[in-house]
Amino acid sequence: MAAPLSSEERAVPLYYQKSLDSLPAPRLDGVQKQFFKDQTGITDDEELVRYIVDLRARAFAIHPYPCIRMFAFTTLKILRNFAYEQFLHLGATRQGAIFIDIGCCFGTDVRKAIADGYPPENVVAADLQKGEYNGTQSTPETFPVPFVQGDAFDPATLAIVPPVDGSHPLLTPHPDLKPLTSLNPLHGRVSAIHAASLFHLFSQEKQIHLARAMAGLLSPESGSMIFGEQVSQPVTGEYFLGKIGEDPMFCQSPESWEQMWVRIFGEGVVKVETDLREVPKPDFCTIPLPLSTQSHSAIR
Ligand SMILES: C[S@@+](CC[C@H](N)C(=O)[O-])C[C@H]1O[C@@H](n2cnc3c(N)ncnc32)[C@H](O)[C@@H]1O
Repeated sequence: MAAPLSSEERAVPLYYQKSLDSLPAPRLDGVQKQFFKDQTGITDDEELVRYIVDLRARAFAIHPYPCIRMFAFTTLKILRNFAYEQFLHLGATRQGAIFIDIGCCFGTDVRKAIADGYPPENVVAADLQKGEYNGTQSTPETFPVPFVQGDAFDPATLAIVPPVDGSHPLLTPHPDLKPLTSLNPLHGRVSAIHAASLFHLFSQEKQIHLARAMAGLLSPESGSMIFGEQVSQPVTGEYFLGKIGEDPMFCQSPESWEQMWVRIFGEGVVKVETDLREVPKPDFCTIPLPLSTQSHSAIR
């Protein structure tokens, strides 16, 4: 366990108060650029950058997270997850395989999955706030993926139930996704749950709550998965990386992450894999350690 944070470490750094306009423009690679061109219909490179900078400003007013500030939403996190191909295969081969992105923000990852062939009729996006969900210029008519707005800690949005073990087949019909206003009708029904840059916003206790809540949604069918990417560290503990919310950032290590899922599902029920990688430190990062993110999957 890492040492507790000092009051200096908890202070909000001055450079966090720098205006968004004073920060460097986004640098998109070829895949990212093409994705945003396809989504927005913008063909000119400079116009696309202006559009993304403007989208960031509008979104930051609603979600003041460091990752929005540094354009992390342009990086297509779902695509770089090592379980992505397996996830797409699941969508292509399992009839009605429901996929939810919890904490989807702009919905870039659900849009990328659909662009890469995930059946759109099986997709649900969820977030605390609708914000700039349609910021990539889509409308409910052009992008009819249901959006469930709500706090993932509110039982009305997502109640904790034990993971469904598969010994009692679900007898109710396949749920209708269009009218959803809560994720609870999907308990035991979801084939794939993606969550990126979500867990690390919360304390360890809340992360366990969130993980238990997601586990209750997961289908018992073999191959069902929870996957994503969170800021992590080789040593579990609280780290201060900038102003991210009410809680200090609690970073899981690969070991604590695996233990959390095994405790929730039970020994031998899920295969947990992680890939911890050091990433360049953004301007707000105060920790005197390398910054790392962890791609992960828990597959039944
Ligand atoms: C840091 S952003 C990450 C967005 C996106 N997943 C990505 O990786 O680019 C965290 C997202 O989680 C959402 N969020 C925060 N707290 C939440 C909660 N209690 N319930 C549901 N969503 C929440 C925020 O609104 C925001 O869109």
